Amino acid sequence: MNILLVGSGGREHALAWKIAASPLVTRLVTAPGNPGMAALAELRDVSVTDVEGLVALAKEIAADLVVIGPESSVAAGLADALELAKIPCFGPSAGAGQLESSKAFTKAFADRYGLPTAAYRVCETADEARAALELFSAPYVIKADGLAAGKGVTVAHDRGEAEAAIDDAFGGRFGAAGARVVVEEFLEGEIGSLFALCDGETSMLFGWAQDHKRAFDGEQGPNTGGMGTYSPAPVFTPELVEQVRTRLVEPAFAGIAADGSPYRGVLFVELMATKTGPKLVEFNVRFGDPECQVLMLRLESDLVPYLEACAKGTLKDMPPPVWREEPAVCVVLAAKGYPGTPASGGEILGLDQDLGDGVVVFHAGTKQGPDGVLRAAGGRVLNVCARGRDLQTARDRAYAGIDRIDFADGFCRRDIGWRALALS
Ligand code: AMP
Ligand code: GLY
Repeated sequence: MNILLVGSGGREHALAWKIAASPLVTRLVTAPGNPGMAALAELRDVSVTDVEGLVALAKEIAADLVVIGPESSVAAGLADALELAKIPCFGPSAGAGQLESSKAFTKAFADRYGLPTAAYRVCETADEARAALELFSAPYVIKADGLAAGKGVTVAHDRGEAEAAIDDAFGGRFGAAGARVVVEEFLEGEIGSLFALCDGETSMLFGWAQDHKRAFDGEQGPNTGGMGTYSPAPVFTPELVEQVRTRLVEPAFAGIAADGSPYRGVLFVELMATKTGPKLVEFNVRFGDPECQVLMLRLESDLVPYLEACAKGTLKDMPPPVWREEPAVCVVLAAKGYPGTPASGGEILGLDQDLGDGVVVFHAGTKQGPDGVLRAAGGRVLNVCARGRDLQTARDRAYAGIDRIDFADGFCRRDIGWRALALS
């Protein structure tokens, strides 16, 4: 098979690593890809939102399948354009993609189809949002409506912080994404990320993991796109998984099909495990980043037949995926300043040595100049991942790998997986 993989982050590097290992693949092309993916795939410099350019590239390489990594390609309508061109695609239509691209859409969708979620108000102006605070009590949850790379959410501990977040959003901090704001009820519980595949009709659970969204150790600092993940995560008891499947996953796929946009691809359910069962925090219409990295390390089955089955409507013929027993951990090395303005261009040395048993490094935001030196080019720069016989071993391996990498402008959290380790 010829496969075109769209994206350039750690998630796509992990997907490329797993796809390239499939005996079904003859040619793997990524657009635009990243320096870490160069050993696995041909890199082509087409942007993830250049729908016309991507369709042309898919035609040029006679792609049997296009795999969409990022939400921005979904929102740009890549799957819709590929459908018109009759090219099989793993990734939902822009219509279905509204489940991620607008929080207001998702809240209304959840109400319409009875999905449990936090109470909320959608606000068009800062005055409306300030008034909405009256309906809730601290801590307040303020969300930019649109796509903000995981940074558009503020959990404010008091009124002043909440009002500042509202002013920030309406003041343009998130661009058009903050032109509307959702104020919602604070949910108490533990957060989890669950993934499900769908081919428009049949759905299938496809793993779960836990992410650390805050920038600093001890769950301190601002929200980020994710600073590290581990899988399996003890919060996902068999009972919780079953509740998520019946209360969130299946009604979501049925609802979006009933709305006229049958879902083809992976749905990422971010949920809060509350005392009264799982509640939806948000949907994403793609694999999580860095959740995907630990899933790919644990996935024993060939990934490609699952991607193809979603694109072609044959998921009912597929067995459930097989996962390795060994836990996996992913630690994000970010550039100092992230999730604000990250230091750009910092040198990264030491990746060409052996980083230890079971360690795999994915590039998330790097570039290689004409001098051959690898440099930081983004907020989240590297994902250092490892498997081990238990979570402690996997984590120790990942941190030993990190300690061998020389990236003076970088930082990472040192406590990834603490919740699970505290229980063991
Ligand atoms: P999101 O971008 O929606 O994933 O939100 C980022 C983070 O904010 C989540 O991972 C949660 O930790 C937190 N969060 C979002 N919504 C709520 C809520 N309603 N109650 C409590 N925490 C929330
Ligand atoms: N790690 C969370 C996300 O991908 O949005």
